[in-house]
Amino acid sequence: MSVALQNIIRSHQITQQSALRFNPESVEFAQDPYATYELLRAQSKPFYFEAADLWLLSRYDAVDAAARHPKLVRSLQSFMPIDEVAAITRRANWHDMPNHSRFVQTSLLDSDGDVHFRLRLIVLRELSKSFVLKAKPTIQSYVAKLLDQILERQSFDFIADLAAHVPGHVIGNILGVPDEDCPQLRLWSEDVVQFFDVGRTEQHKQIAERATTEFYLYLKDLIADRRRHPKSDLVSTLLQAQTAGELTETELISTCMLILMAGHGSTIDVLGTGMYALIKHPQALQQLRQQPQHLSTAVQEMFRYESPLPFFHRYASEDVVVMGQNFPKGTKFGLLYGSANRDASQFSDADRFDICRQPNRHIAFGRGAHLCLGNHLSRLDMEVIFSGLIERTKNIELVGAAPQYKDGLSMRGLKTLNLRFTPK
Ligand code: HEM
Repeated sequence: MSVALQNIIRSHQITQQSALRFNPESVEFAQDPYATYELLRAQSKPFYFEAADLWLLSRYDAVDAAARHPKLVRSLQSFMPIDEVAAITRRANWHDMPNHSRFVQTSLLDSDGDVHFRLRLIVLRELSKSFVLKAKPTIQSYVAKLLDQILERQSFDFIADLAAHVPGHVIGNILGVPDEDCPQLRLWSEDVVQFFDVGRTEQHKQIAERATTEFYLYLKDLIADRRRHPKSDLVSTLLQAQTAGELTETELISTCMLILMAGHGSTIDVLGTGMYALIKHPQALQQLRQQPQHLSTAVQEMFRYESPLPFFHRYASEDVVVMGQNFPKGTKFGLLYGSANRDASQFSDADRFDICRQPNRHIAFGRGAHLCLGNHLSRLDMEVIFSGLIERTKNIELVGAAPQYKDGLSMRGLKTLNLRFTPK
């Protein structure tokens, strides 16, 4: 047997063994999921992840095709009788959460077909590029104030002291939430979202239900206020649509919750990993200081390099063929956007952080019917923050040990990022 053939067989065996140990809850996976993603991509078929009873897709082409596939849908309700859905929900311990089921588990994101199209259309314009650009001056002055405070300090946590304040505040403003209430939105959002990761416990469930209920009651009051005194905010626009019979009050509340939850934690996470990537690549940071016109491609590269929402699911609404393999109706798939974004068949030198990368057809915002509605807003937040940092600092350095990543498959972000800035 030739050496080349032996190597191929050996690498195939290693791939099989390593992939079989796929454990997204492990510390090793949290620190470096990319080694595992590479092993998964080496397989020519979807990988069965037994613990979650789903088939993982990791190659760019497969993930892209699945996200666009008309028969791969987000919700079981789209193709399954309601009592069967209830049985599955119970088995997965997603039941006994009245408000979470009503407002979070049922949403624009978790709907398909006509319902999805109707709800998406109402929000689409409000989060379009031209609409969100109107918020730029407000975001700039808010970020400037945060930087004023931070630049006076010796060192600080980039995540807790800067990143975490911005997206929730910006989304809160768009919704119409008063400034002083925005920090509370952040806490609700985090408590609701933690329920979606692997390794869920009964306590996670209770926290999520309590946060959803509090958030619901808050939004109910806000809606009642806007009914009496409409303003130019998203809640007022959604109310107009409700009056016109385009959505129900439950859909209105669930849409407000989704917009906050989809955009808050994810933007914080990519701000942190993007900042860390710049610190690990000082030439890139230096280049941005000298040529800030590259900021927009740099931000896109941050999304590709460390996609903050690396995993989303789909269900087969009928029998389908995926990567040449037959799967029956009801099969669940895991789309690994974070892995697709490191696929060398799509991106040259895929593990390299390249702030000028073009083209950069990353899939961090998904594809197809559910393509992220907040992509313009989150990129705007990032561009405002990084341009403020470049303008106002001479030097940015890491303080202490290398930062730790959060655990799990659904989110990619740092727990803390301790830095020191040298102001200009
Ligand atoms: C770091 C930033 C963000 C990332 C990486 C991200 C990523 C994604 C992805 C991958 C999807 C598609 C899910 C799927 O394929 O099943 C999605 C959907 C969505 N995102 Fe984002 N998102 C971000 C920020 C935001 C923001 C700021 C908002 C709102 C202000 C937002 C609102 C939404 C909504 C409403 C959907 C559902 C769209 C639909 O189902 O039609 N996202 N997002």
